[in-house]
Amino acid sequence: MIDIQEFVARRACFIDQMDLNSIAIFCAADELTRSHDTEFPFCQNKNFLYLTGFNEPQALLVLTKDALGNGQSTLFCRDKDPLQEVWHGRRVGAELAKEKYAFDQTFTLEQADEQIVAMLKHKSSLYTVHNENDAFDSQIFDWLSAVKSGVKAGDKAPSQLIDCSGMLAEMRLIKSQAELAVMRKANEITANAHVRAMKNCQVGMFEYQIEAEVHHEFAFNGARHPAYGSIVAGGDNANILHYTDNSDVLKDNELLLIDAGGELDGYASDITRTFPINGKFTPAQKEIYQLVLDAQIASIEAIKPGVSFAQLNDIVHEVFTKGLVELGILQGDFDTLMEEKACKQYFIHGLGHWLGLDVHDVGDYDIDENRRQNRAFEPGMIMTIEPGLYIPLDAEVDDKYKGIGVRIEDNVVVTENGYENYSLGVPKTIADIEALMAS
Ligand code: GLY
Ligand code: MN
Ligand code: MN
Repeated sequence: MIDIQEFVARRACFIDQMDLNSIAIFCAADELTRSHDTEFPFCQNKNFLYLTGFNEPQALLVLTKDALGNGQSTLFCRDKDPLQEVWHGRRVGAELAKEKYAFDQTFTLEQADEQIVAMLKHKSSLYTVHNENDAFDSQIFDWLSAVKSGVKAGDKAPSQLIDCSGMLAEMRLIKSQAELAVMRKANEITANAHVRAMKNCQVGMFEYQIEAEVHHEFAFNGARHPAYGSIVAGGDNANILHYTDNSDVLKDNELLLIDAGGELDGYASDITRTFPINGKFTPAQKEIYQLVLDAQIASIEAIKPGVSFAQLNDIVHEVFTKGLVELGILQGDFDTLMEEKACKQYFIHGLGHWLGLDVHDVGDYDIDENRRQNRAFEPGMIMTIEPGLYIPLDAEVDDKYKGIGVRIEDNVVVTENGYENYSLGVPKTIADIEALMAS
């Protein structure tokens, strides 16, 4: 768990960046109906969680900065209600929230309209995250209208509306030691889940049975929910990038691709492994698998401060182009194939992404007109590295490669001098996978 003082420091850091005489308002996530009167498991809005640590729906955070630069934090939340709590679960309540989450002041949600309208008066700028929640956007305009209705009495509403999603993204992109500790643990749990899948996999099982093994390991170890829809894709299903049906039978001599990560204390992990269902790679599977592994290792080994995703992509393209030519899957002159980015026919997604409270975490990639991601890595950034090769059944290649889809994905943090790979708890070399599955 992240210490409450870290949330206080994040709010202070945000307030530091606000204009003098300004206000910021953030909204908690809503509960989402699954069907009729049942809801999906609650998932807090990640910006709200980042600034508060408060994990209930129907709450508002207001940060203000006066003309002298003094900041204040205010939480509005549901009040205690014995009848509601006996049906739907405990609430922190406004009084306890002040102390437990270290806000300067707290109010009940019923007090929000009056208090927020008062706080908005005479502020110059209003910061919110735009276009995330329609009801909240229109609520903001209702509050502004209420302030403007007092214009004759001398009231003024903020004239500048600022979308602060970029400010928060920059803060969230560089992880603290406490965040990295949680993400390391999320990776350990997730790595063990992949190991469990490898150990329990048998020809004739169904994809959902392996999914159950993975989810058991997550939940049993405190990562109660997957960070995203788990992909458990046997054979050619691996060539559907976001395959989540997970309903097919697992066949002999085919590969199983599992892309699954547990979420711990709000932080995602995102690991992919691809392994033979019967425990032994075929020669053709070995060729494709080793090529993906070589590309993954070469790109991870290049990670250090100052390097960018664009540079890692160049490394992967070189390994893939050379390897695919050697296997006869690509034909032609190496330099021309590199220029044409010919390997993208089989490597059909990006090399990786930032990871954090969201699986595809926030943070600018500094993308140029050639779609190259030039953002220089800095210590504390954490990313996935996930090259893959996808050869569907209708690909124009030797039959032995058809229906093979391989992705290998690790979560890697940038350190002062290089990198640390958090996903080493699950094997990825051919020898190590076969040894684990034989044990
Ligand atoms: N699991 C989603 C991704 O790898 O990006
Ligand atoms: Mn990923
Ligand atoms: Mn993934």
